[in-house]
Amino acid sequence: MTHLPNSLAGRDIASMVHPYTNLDRHQTVGPFVAASGDGCYITDDNGVKYLEGMAGLWSASLGFSEPRLAEAAARQMATLPFYHSFNHRSHEPMIALAEKLMSIAPPGLTRALFANSGSEANDQAIKLVWYYNQGLGRPEKRKIISRIRAYHGVTVASASLTGLPPNHTDFNLPLPGFLHTDCPSFYLNGQPGESETDFTDRIVGNLEAMIEAEGPETIAAFWAEPIMGAGGVYLPPEGYFAKVQALLKKHDILFVVDEVITGFGRTGNMFACETYDLAPDMMVVAKALSASFLPISATLISGPIHEVLISQSRKLGAFAHGFTYSGHPASAAVALETLKIYEERDTVGHVRAVSPLFQRRLKALAAHPLVGEARGVALIGGLELVKDKPTKTLFEPSQGVALAVVAACLGRGVILRAIRDIVAVCPPLIITEAQITVLFDALEAALDEVAAKVLAPA
Ligand SMILES: Cc1ncc(COP(=O)(O)O)c(C=O)c1O
Repeated sequence: MTHLPNSLAGRDIASMVHPYTNLDRHQTVGPFVAASGDGCYITDDNGVKYLEGMAGLWSASLGFSEPRLAEAAARQMATLPFYHSFNHRSHEPMIALAEKLMSIAPPGLTRALFANSGSEANDQAIKLVWYYNQGLGRPEKRKIISRIRAYHGVTVASASLTGLPPNHTDFNLPLPGFLHTDCPSFYLNGQPGESETDFTDRIVGNLEAMIEAEGPETIAAFWAEPIMGAGGVYLPPEGYFAKVQALLKKHDILFVVDEVITGFGRTGNMFACETYDLAPDMMVVAKALSASFLPISATLISGPIHEVLISQSRKLGAFAHGFTYSGHPASAAVALETLKIYEERDTVGHVRAVSPLFQRRLKALAAHPLVGEARGVALIGGLELVKDKPTKTLFEPSQGVALAVVAACLGRGVILRAIRDIVAVCPPLIITEAQITVLFDALEAALDEVAAKVLAPA
């Protein structure tokens, strides 16, 4: 494929380094150039319209054209386009957003510290964990446990939490003191004859063994996405979080919940903390916080953690952390408007109303010869593609089977995402039943098309 040097594609190739892109391949294939958005649809620079079945990056909860968000940004830009929050400075949109978040957050979370991305909000949560234990006079309690296949971002520290080899290889990561325990996928990691609850007991036992081997006095925090997203859409097995939380309590280990994908309705409740009965000491939110119209994220912290931050200021002076754009006024105004829209339109109620159809269509794909497992909750789903269902044998990575399915979907006007052998589905929360039908009709046809090529005839 060649691209004219003065075309958008040619200019992109000549000027960009693309995140999460095969940079060598990009030199020839070039970019997909999005030109405009309308509800759940994106139109490319050739005028072709696509149903965005991933809400961009699991994030554009209200689609791609909500006028109220554009107006909220314009109003704020015209009033106070920028101010900061260092050195006691503040502004109304940030204050109102913090209050609103506290009013909907899980009980016990009492303060918000803003940042600009999910990675930054996790990164600053790591610093808070360390600062907290230093404040309590136990500096040795600083190791952090997350999970294999977790995704918490890409800064040096948040990539250390992430449990995916490509985020570590040749980046000299993870940093020391970041440990990874089992991925909780019963499908992938359950042993022959093991029940789901036996599997839970085994992996929680492994976590306990890790804590004991390292010394509980050295373990500061455990990090988890309620549903693992970018690692492959893995749901917690039966009883998992109840047992993990009891273990953390026993060893005085902080529980940090990363709701960057699951927050604001994705699982059919405002937060997945409600869906899975989680009581975090800190919670990280981003993405749907502003419907992705502008960058903003937040780390929400418990009262006891906040108390220690205050006592640290008595000792050290100013809390020496913050970003120029922490709680940026335009982003905060857009986030506040987003939360108002969720409330006024009962977006969570809408998710609950349409998700039975979404889950029915998703789970029906479990019968497809290419699909080993179809899993999901409310408006998030994943298909694990396998070469042989009874033995769960995977395809050779070089076959790119999930990529082929996603390409076949694109050819049918639907954007989905391939993660290794998994096809992920995570549409805008405003998706309608008619659009869910279009999405799954395309996915089913794409699976048939690819199965005909990669599966030997029975
Ligand atoms: C659970 C989770 N945490 C953190 C992040 C990182 O967020 P960002 O890309 O905004 O840095 C992501 C991004 O997909 C995520 O899914």
